[in-house]
Amino acid sequence: RHRQPIIAIDGPAGAGKSTVTRKIAQALGLLYLDTGAMYRAVTWLVLQSGIAIDDEPAIAEIVSQCQIELIPDGEQPRTVINGEDVTEAIRSLEVTANVSAIASQWAVRQALVKQQQAFGRQGGIVAEGRDIGTTVFPDAELKIFLTASVQERAKRRLLELHTKGKIEVTQEQLEQDIAQRDQLDSNRAISPLRKASDAVEIQTDNLTIDDVIQRVVGLYSREQGTA
Ligand code: CDP
Ligand code: CDP
Repeated sequence: RHRQPIIAIDGPAGAGKSTVTRKIAQALGLLYLDTGAMYRAVTWLVLQSGIAIDDEPAIAEIVSQCQIELIPDGEQPRTVINGEDVTEAIRSLEVTANVSAIASQWAVRQALVKQQQAFGRQGGIVAEGRDIGTTVFPDAELKIFLTASVQERAKRRLLELHTKGKIEVTQEQLEQDIAQRDQLDSNRAISPLRKASDAVEIQTDNLTIDDVIQRVVGLYSREQGTA
């Protein structure tokens, strides 16, 4: 093998990708690549610039010129675009509502996948997103596909928002948002959300985060042992 191993973690919103990926990166000493943060950062930039979200040529132009940095910083890496720290701003409802539309555009995916592959050239990373196992790192040593029901995922988000003191949304609204993003992400033409044929699917409705981490670390150890 001419590079360090790669773990790919895909799945829909709220399946537990970020939480699990962050902890696995720490436990195994791998770099954490949050590709969703990159699509969110571009979406933030587009909204900020006042460009219409369906103005594909203008967005292609912006994306080809922007610089995204993912800076390790303890548990939660910082996301910086064109020198501006947008770590918190990219989690807004407005960004969340528009990110799938922008992530479906060819020029956006082409530019970001290229940057993700450059980030992973040496390996030694655990990357999470929607198309990591299918498109970004199709030769990853371990591919995981995390799932959970829409209800369970909305419940998790609601709990998260309550913990942060944000209570302006209901479980129903969250279910709608999640179902709509599932729909857009799964049905777009370019690298839709899909389980790679060689990915291990983990249904997490009745699993804790630690259960999931144990499963993934176990699979990884086995893979390393047989490599
Ligand atoms: O954290 P959450 O699951 O809500 O979303 P995320 O992982 O931050 O991703 C936000 C959006 O970016 C997704 O709904 C997708 O539309 C898009 N995305 C994508 O298209 N491909 C990826 N590899 C990662 C995210
Ligand atoms: O990144 P993604 O959107 O897939 O999900 P996340 O942001 O990592 O997880 C959403 C929420 O679900 C977090 O607050 C996790 O603590 C929680 N979670 C859980 O309660 N049980 C799991 N098995 C996985 C995640």
